[in-house]
Amino acid sequence: MLFGMRVTLQHLISTGLLALAVLALQMLVGKRVIRFKGRTHQKVHRRLAYALTALAVAHGFLALVVAYQWTIGG
Ligand code: HEM
Repeated sequence: MLFGMRVTLQHLISTGLLALAVLALQMLVGKRVIRFKGRTHQKVHRRLAYALTALAVAHGFLALVVAYQWTIGG
């Protein structure tokens, strides 16, 4: 339970799949299959890296909440 909301397997699956999709996009940008002009390219790669890291942390944290049946925030 997270602030009164039950964390379900659906949350784990959706954050996991979203993280996987961003990772695939990051690989395509990293390999320059998808290109952006000039410094924009680096900026997109960096912002995707922040997004992916945040998603991975959220996914892992939600997994711990489900696995150990934590109750946080009532
Ligand atoms: C197949 C996967 C990847 C390839 C081929 C790749 C390639 C590259 C390349 C060539 C650079 C040099 C700078 C540039 O061209 O923009 C770079 C920078 C960087 N990459 Fe990746 N990358 C990949 C995946 C990732 C992932 C998964 C992350 C993190 C989640 C990541 C985070 C970064 C960051 C933070 C930089 C520094 C960018 C900056 O400060 O502007 N990359 N990557």
